[in-house]
Amino acid sequence: MSIYNIVTRHCVVALLCATAFCACSKDEVWVKDDAVTEGSLPSAGTATVYNIGVSAYDTPAPWVTGDLLRRFYAGDRLYDSNRGTEGGKGPLYAGSSCGSCHSNAGRTLPSMYGPDSGSGTMGFSSQLVYITKQNGSFFRNYGRVLHDQVIKGEKAEGKLQVTFTEKTFSFPDGEKYSLQTPHYKITDWYAEEIDPKDLIIDVHIPLRHVGMGQIMALDHDELRRLAAQSNYPEYGISGRLSIITERNKQYVGTGGNKAHHADLTVELGFSSDLGVTNDRYPLEVSHGQSQNIGYSHYGIQISTREMEDVDLYLSTLGVPARRNVNDPAVKRGEENFYRAKCQLCHTPTLHTRQDAVTLLNGTRLPWLSNQTIHPYSDFLLHDMGPGLDNHVRVGSAYSYEWRTTPLWGIGLQQTVNSHTRFLHDGRARNLLEAIMWHDGEGAVSREIFSRMSKQERDDLITFLNSL
Ligand code: HEC
Ligand code: HEC
Repeated sequence: MSIYNIVTRHCVVALLCATAFCACSKDEVWVKDDAVTEGSLPSAGTATVYNIGVSAYDTPAPWVTGDLLRRFYAGDRLYDSNRGTEGGKGPLYAGSSCGSCHSNAGRTLPSMYGPDSGSGTMGFSSQLVYITKQNGSFFRNYGRVLHDQVIKGEKAEGKLQVTFTEKTFSFPDGEKYSLQTPHYKITDWYAEEIDPKDLIIDVHIPLRHVGMGQIMALDHDELRRLAAQSNYPEYGISGRLSIITERNKQYVGTGGNKAHHADLTVELGFSSDLGVTNDRYPLEVSHGQSQNIGYSHYGIQISTREMEDVDLYLSTLGVPARRNVNDPAVKRGEENFYRAKCQLCHTPTLHTRQDAVTLLNGTRLPWLSNQTIHPYSDFLLHDMGPGLDNHVRVGSAYSYEWRTTPLWGIGLQQTVNSHTRFLHDGRARNLLEAIMWHDGEGAVSREIFSRMSKQERDDLITFLNSL
């Protein structure tokens, strides 16, 4: 979040009120922040926000006030600030702050898709590169994530190289589209060279943080019922609830592209992505690696108290309202969305649990309870076919299974992050390509979409952009 938005949206923040900005009114906020109310629909009950500017994903829910708001901004700052080595970053890391990859609480464009993409090794990438042996285990000198960033004096674990192959196809009505497949290679290994034949490289781009609090507050019984009913043999669709086992306990996984997280992964993010040790992960990710033996006694680099503010920040982000719902093209597109059976996985309406959500430190957020929400996801795992198979099992998801990506806020990704890369690895350059990659359980939807007229396909995409 930029300071500009903080002061315009919440003039009452005590910290900032010492400055001349205190006089601004709420009306001004809406104008300056590019907000809508006309033609809009709430997406997440009382947590809905009407901001359609660059901070659309990064605005506190309207009920975040007083001490909660103070902690929201404290969490936001920790999330966005480059920790530097004095903040415990490194020795190995993947990004300098949470916000370096999730800029404006969205999806930073990975450098392989940026203007200089196509060849060569990358500097900062903003993606996570997972490496695994063919048999599913890790390599002796490396962890699950390839850390391609290092503090001075260290050597990165390796560098990713990407090339693409492109194929052009035609819709039955003659319109052409093409799909790009990424191919990965790792060079500059810091320790032993890894035989490419034994190596699985799985690259993920960041997810939008839209509705994180609501995702953690989902009614799991409703998801269980969906999984039991979400069996549409006529369309080849059957979603599966992700059950993950951590520390001998079982949890329902709703976070991450493989539904492999049951929490907001704040401690894991600090440890694995930034190299910042904490009570839950007290050892540097490079612990035991030949070049990093001396680093393990740096101690705890971020306190649980501070991470709780980050947890609170993520949990209390507002969800952008739907826009342009009265536009005839949006209405037609919505009908086409149902005709193409997209809703059998991208479930429009779900509910949060009755009991109040409790954060790491016991802070209760009763506003997240008992809400009707519109995430456009069933949070179940689906077989998406061989084209999207990442060749490794993550949590309870098979390599070809993915969690239905929630579509709320998707139409604002261009405004928030200035790009339209979609799918877990960002291979789709726009919404149309994202749909055309659907296979496996998604094949029927893709086929119905393909056989629509160009106008109908365009309308469906206009509808997606209203989410
Ligand atoms: C190097 C880039 C990078 C950094 C730095 C990073 N993340 Fe992420 N984050 C990702 C990627 C990639 C994913 C998607 C992983 C997947 O496929 O499930 C993700 C996913 C997440 C999710 C799950 C989102 C969802 O919709 O389920 C949360 C929450 C999250 N990150 C929080 C954080 C926090 C907190 C930090 C800082 C402590 C952080 N991230 C730092 C790249 C990053
Ligand atoms: C069988 C379940 C299923 C059906 C049916 C389905 N989807 Fe998906 N959708 C998914 C899954 C799973 C993903 C995540 C795939 C990945 O990232 O590799 C996804 C991803 C997407 C994305 C990319 C989201 C992002 O932010 O990266 C879009 C857009 C999308 N779907 C739209 C549609 C539309 C439109 C339809 C109907 C024409 C549809 N989907 C039908 C399961 C489904």
